Amino acid sequence: MPGCAEQSALVSWSGRYRIGSRAAGDLHHQAWALTWTSSSDDHRAMPVTPTPKIWMNGTLVDWADAKVHVLTHSLHYGMGVFEGMRAYETSGGPAIFRLTDHMKRLHNSAKILGMPMPYTVDELIAAAKATVMTTELPGCYVRPIAYLGYGEMGLNTLPCKTDVSIACWPWGAYLGEDALEKGVRMKISSWVRHGHNTMPPAAKMTGSYVNSSLAKVEALNAGYDEAIMLNAQGLIAECSGENLFVVRNGVIVTPPLSSGALEGITQDSVMTIARDLGFDVRLSELARSDLYIAEEIFVCGTAAEVGSVNSVDDRPVPCPGPITLAIAAEYAKAVRGQVDKYKDWVEHCS
Ligand SMILES: Cc1ncc(COP(=O)(O)O)c(C=O)c1O
Repeated sequence: MPGCAEQSALVSWSGRYRIGSRAAGDLHHQAWALTWTSSSDDHRAMPVTPTPKIWMNGTLVDWADAKVHVLTHSLHYGMGVFEGMRAYETSGGPAIFRLTDHMKRLHNSAKILGMPMPYTVDELIAAAKATVMTTELPGCYVRPIAYLGYGEMGLNTLPCKTDVSIACWPWGAYLGEDALEKGVRMKISSWVRHGHNTMPPAAKMTGSYVNSSLAKVEALNAGYDEAIMLNAQGLIAECSGENLFVVRNGVIVTPPLSSGALEGITQDSVMTIARDLGFDVRLSELARSDLYIAEEIFVCGTAAEVGSVNSVDDRPVPCPGPITLAIAAEYAKAVRGQVDKYKDWVEHCS
């Protein structure tokens, strides 16, 4: 049973997740979880806050009713594809950043897995906008997912039906509010990024994220903030949930899809912004030693936005670097529709 300190930690842990009081049997389980992962760092907790509606297979249902059966195929075999998008507050109301590109990637992910998609890109765009509007929030995180639903079991996915849902909730900065200024501590993971002939990195699929979660939790338990993943050749792929950029000799370099990175939409936005700011940007392979002697390193993704890296495997990296800060500032304006040349990226919901 937990001691006094653990008991009080439990109370606040429970409170943070809104799980309220639990049966005594569960307490032991929670205590074990705490001894293994306990931390007071807020950025580790990313709780979900309910919003009024979730779009499920064409209908907006109440948040509490957006449920699936325990025999949902994807729950057992990990065959699903998803996106993470952000709606930002703009002068014209909430707008989803690069919504069309995200929905195209969702379709491409499904195509790679051979999953039929029952909705067109245009239908999904309309559904995402409608779901954001039900929140009445100025901005939120948006999570579309397509998965194989209830009715079939076994590894033959051919008879399975694809279900689709889109949920929105307010979600803070994934690596912490101070990730840009203070930077994050990185660890090269002992887990290897899955390869093109195991779990294709071009598809943003649910099952692949087992690999990312193993790396993330390993890094957190070792006292770091985030994991950098190498591919089977030992070259840099990406982070557990972000793309990575390294500045060496004044040139900004980010690993391509062939290195095992997701083709990040933020990565693409950052490359465009950086080139427009006059920087030399390249998609190229990177070795871990490139990180140890980098002038600057930053990470980017929809959830994390742009964050600085302050060390890799305890080797300090100058942070926050001037290139990182310049790109982050422009990105923050672009997503809010404040930069004319990037207005097409900002897709208004109403
Ligand atoms: C593994 C991984 N790499 C990169 C990214 C960044 O992708 P994007 O910028 O499209 O959000 C993500 C974001 O979900 C991710 O999970």
